[in-house]
Amino acid sequence: MQEILKKIQKDSVTIDDLEYLISTDKYNDEILSLADEIRGKYVGNEVHIRAIIEFSNYCKMDCLYCGLRAPNKNLKRYRMTPEEIYKRAQLIAQKNIKTIVLQSGEDPFYTTDILKDLIIKIKSLDIAITLSIGERDFEEYKIWKETGADRYLMRHETADEKLYNYLHPHDTFENRKLHLLKLKEIGYEIGAGCMVGLPGQGPRELAKDLMFLKELDSDMIGIGPFIPNPDTPLKNEKGGDLKTTLKIIALARILIPTANIPATTAMGSLHPFGRQMALKAGANVIMPNLTPNPYRPHYTLYPNKICLFEKDTSCIECVKGMITSLNRIIGKNYGSRVKVS
Ligand code: 5AD
Ligand code: FES
Repeated sequence: MQEILKKIQKDSVTIDDLEYLISTDKYNDEILSLADEIRGKYVGNEVHIRAIIEFSNYCKMDCLYCGLRAPNKNLKRYRMTPEEIYKRAQLIAQKNIKTIVLQSGEDPFYTTDILKDLIIKIKSLDIAITLSIGERDFEEYKIWKETGADRYLMRHETADEKLYNYLHPHDTFENRKLHLLKLKEIGYEIGAGCMVGLPGQGPRELAKDLMFLKELDSDMIGIGPFIPNPDTPLKNEKGGDLKTTLKIIALARILIPTANIPATTAMGSLHPFGRQMALKAGANVIMPNLTPNPYRPHYTLYPNKICLFEKDTSCIECVKGMITSLNRIIGKNYGSRVKVS
């Protein structure tokens, strides 16, 4: 075990080593505490806050796991106007948060120019912009980067090619990888990541996810449990468990020590202290929900999503309280990936 952990840190780890660590529970405590130690050493005690606005739940895709999938008729669809999005960005900037995440389903309603104009306006608020709007044209990625967007989140979901292609009837893993590489080449900080507990995903497949994140040298890594959604074809599947998801987060930290890793909302939805546990197992980012009402409850990727509160700015205070209760520090800067020389 010690040998494998040393190998991970020397970059000579194999997929078989990772598969072994994932398949046994013998070393879980050691893995989690090593991840926490490495997190402290490489990215410190700051936890970066990224305010997320889920600005449209329209989606043209039909990913088997996701509540926003186009064929789902049990969802009240909404689109925020650029003006509404900008107003929300202003509020976020006023609260001294330094990153805004603009997320939506794959919604072509927001054209190259609509988003370009919005990016220009939001950038004037002195805030980093992360886009999370799915696959678009390479030319658009370029234009938005030149306009001022800083980062792009697009999880790889699963690095098992067969499983990816099954879960995404209109996409292929090969294509998803191409998009991530293109985003990186254009100069974005990129965020990949996966769900844990997908049907047909075992230790081998999860080891592939970790190898893929390492190969990509992903700047940001979003990992959360798969939570079956009753309005999708995967409604009767089992879903991910806390223990395995925490271990994958921890292994991601050990493998890619300087990555920014969020304690995801799905972790918090699986367990009341899921995000706190993630922050103690390698995570260093948290993403409070700033989607305004009345839209917020309609961004239902999965059931029992947390934070569907009446007062729709309360997540900011909530995550700040969480950070201080863990004796960590609230990040004050953009919180871009740290560079080690
Ligand atoms: N359970 C957990 N996570 C999900 N996502 C989508 N549907 C689900 C689900 N049922 C995740 C995907 C996507 C992110 C925005 O939400 O990984 O990239
Ligand atoms: Fe949303 Fe705690 S982060 S209520």
